[in-house]
Amino acid sequence: MKRKINLGVNIDHVATLRNARGENDPSLLEMAMCAQNAGADLITVHLREDRRHVRDADVFELKKHLKIPINFEMALSDEILSTVLELKPYSVCIVPEKREEVTTEGGLDAVQYKNKIAEYSEKLFNHGIQTYLFIEPEEKMVRAAKEAHVSGVEFHTGSFARAFLIAKERDKEIERLRMASSFAHKESLEVHAGHGINYFNASYLLPILEISEFNIGHAIISRSIAVGLNQAIYEMKKILDCNAV
Ligand code: PXP
Repeated sequence: MKRKINLGVNIDHVATLRNARGENDPSLLEMAMCAQNAGADLITVHLREDRRHVRDADVFELKKHLKIPINFEMALSDEILSTVLELKPYSVCIVPEKREEVTTEGGLDAVQYKNKIAEYSEKLFNHGIQTYLFIEPEEKMVRAAKEAHVSGVEFHTGSFARAFLIAKERDKEIERLRMASSFAHKESLEVHAGHGINYFNASYLLPILEISEFNIGHAIISRSIAVGLNQAIYEMKKILDCNAV
C-alpha cells in the first residue's frame, strides 16, 4: 500500500506580510482556504506570545471556516493554553519560544520541562486535543516525550537543512533523524518533521518511513510569490507523493 504523508502548510508568513501594512491584505483566511483547496492536509499556525504574526482573532476565524484540521503551535504559556482550550484545534505542537529569535531555533527541552508538558498534555487531551512536541532528534528527548504522555513528536529538521549542501554532514543528520524516528515509533509515538524543509531537501527524508507528516512554511510561501500558492502546494505534494515508498 502506498504511504500517505500529510502536509501541514504553515501560513505564519502570510500574517507577517498582512501585518506589514496593518490592514487585511493578504487575507489569512483566503490564503488558508486556497491552501485547503490545493491539497494541504492541515493548516499550521503559531500563536506567539508577542503576536508578531498570527493573532487570536485569526485562529478563531480559521477554525470557523476551514474543513481541514488546524495544527496549533504554542509555547508553554498559560495564557496561550487558555486560548487553545477554547479554540479546540485538532492538534497542538508545543515549541520553545524566545522573543529575540527570528524563527523557532532548536527543539524544546522535553527533559527539563517534562512535568509541565505532562500537565499541558493532560489538559489538552481532556479537551479532545492531541499534543505533539517539537524536539531535537535525540533519544533522551523522545523518552521524555513518552513519559509526558504526548501523542507524538515533531523533529526539528533545522540542523539537517543547514547541513544539506555538505554530503557528509547531511548524511549524519539524516541518520540522526532516522534513529530517533525509529525509536519514537517503537515507543508508539507518531513522528512528524519540520523546519527548513524545501523543494530540494524534502525527498531526502522520505526514506524515513516513520515520518507521517511534514510541516512546511517558508519554502512554500516563498515559492507562492513566483507561482501562486496553489501551484506551490501542488509541487510540494508531488514531491511527497511520488517518492513515497
Ligand atoms: N514546524 C514547527 C514546529 C515550526 O516552529 C516551524 C517554523 O515556524 C515549522 C515547522 C516550519 O518551518 P519553515 O518555515 O522553515 O518551513
